[in-house]
Amino acid sequence: MTAQFIIDAAFIVATLLFIYGLKRMSSPVTARSGIVVAGVGMVVAVLVAFLYIADVNPKAEPFLKTNIILGVVALAVGLGWAWWSGKKVEMTAMPQMVALYNGMGGGAAAAIAAIELFGHKAHGNIILVMAVLGGIIGAVSLSGSLIAWGKLDGRINGTWRFPGLQAVNGLILLTILGIGAWTVYQGGAVGPELIAAFFVLSLVYGVMMAMPIGGADMPVVISLFNAFTGLAVGFEGYVIGNPALMVAGMVVGSAGTLLTLLMAKAMNRSVSNVLFSNFGASGEEGQGEIKGSMKPIDAGDAGINMRYASKVIIAPGYGLAVAQAQHKLYEFVKILQAADVEVKFAIHPVAGRMPGHMNVLLAEAGVPYDIIYDMEDINNEFKEADVAIVIGANDTVNPAARTNKSSPIYGMPILNVDQAKQAYVVKRGQGKGYSGVENELFFADNTNMVYGDAQKVMVAMIQAVKSLEGGGH
Ligand code: TAP
Repeated sequence: MTAQFIIDAAFIVATLLFIYGLKRMSSPVTARSGIVVAGVGMVVAVLVAFLYIADVNPKAEPFLKTNIILGVVALAVGLGWAWWSGKKVEMTAMPQMVALYNGMGGGAAAAIAAIELFGHKAHGNIILVMAVLGGIIGAVSLSGSLIAWGKLDGRINGTWRFPGLQAVNGLILLTILGIGAWTVYQGGAVGPELIAAFFVLSLVYGVMMAMPIGGADMPVVISLFNAFTGLAVGFEGYVIGNPALMVAGMVVGSAGTLLTLLMAKAMNRSVSNVLFSNFGASGEEGQGEIKGSMKPIDAGDAGINMRYASKVIIAPGYGLAVAQAQHKLYEFVKILQAADVEVKFAIHPVAGRMPGHMNVLLAEAGVPYDIIYDMEDINNEFKEADVAIVIGANDTVNPAARTNKSSPIYGMPILNVDQAKQAYVVKRGQGKGYSGVENELFFADNTNMVYGDAQKVMVAMIQAVKSLEGGGH
């Protein structure tokens, strides 16, 4: 068995592990093991890359062999940092961590392109085109993801726009593409200044692309950059003839693209609207007047009413994550279940601030998967529910999306909370949702507001029902 055979076989094994891992990630029940499977695939791919460089490939360049120590050190530093940051990251800080890791992937792809282009290693039109495209996309993804990380982490505040921004961006992009095309036309024989300009402008373009976008739209943008990174890695995999990189890149690229489209669809917006419009800044313009008033109710009373309901549906949102109320919420759910109340969770696809945000939060609290339903599977059940309780959600339950053509969220699919016999809404005050519009549900006749921090409200509900059970017999 030759070393080359081991390398080829290992790359196929790694590829299969990536695909199988991704498949398992499609359900919350198997997702955890899917991540482990894909991780094993990555270990195989990295180890085999070392074998490839070390000695078995007679064509491996002396430059690579002498730098093997450097490679091991880089790997150790990366591994240590990832292990430490992965262990300590808070659930609410997950989007920025994804942004950072994703940026690193884009940077790695751009680095491969840089080695190929600066070293005049890439030959042949197809290889050159791939190296150039991967270089642009990887560099854009690196700097754009870093800006996204800064915004989500509160290190970069506000959006940054000026008249003619799109025209300037268009000009930068054209210049980058022009240099890239020239490089291919010249068979790669262009000066280092031009290649340096190519990379610097690509990095600048990434910054210019991400800076004008509001922090709350960042998850969509991160997902888009994620797709970019996948594409760049796939292209560079082709350039250096590494099938595992090619497949992993394409899998990430297509998964990222699908996720971006899915998020945009669930927000009823196009990807270009996310990238080029300043959503949320327009406020309530054209929303029209809402009839009715907001009627408060005491948390304890609402809790006791639910204790005597036969069916309760819970619609969680971003505020649940802010309040970290998932554990108390599940404690309350168990009390209701013990009193023979049927309880289900209804998850809107963009509830919270990242895909799967609510599922992760509920899983953390130990809520069993079989009482958690996707929007399309439960939306018809709201009309049979005695109570629908909204906890820290807003836009995802706003009926204006169904009826009010002048509302900025018109057309967005929503949870049919308003169709329940009674709706309770838990939130701290009169604060608006992410889109900045008023919510018609809060003014409806069958809705009562439970004001307070979600965690404190859940504690009050638990106490009220418990004291009832304690004193009731
Ligand atoms: P939002 O519309 O953002 O509303 C969250 C509500 O939670 C607010 O009205 C706020 O009201 C309340 N809240 C905040 N902190 C709270 C606390 N400690 N206790 C109780 N309530 C609290 O949330 P949503 O319904 O989940 O909708 C998500 C929004 O984000 C959608 O517009 C969606 O398009 C957008 N978005 C989502 C994603 C993904 S992928 N999930 C990506 C980008 C954008 P008070 O201030 O009055 O408490």
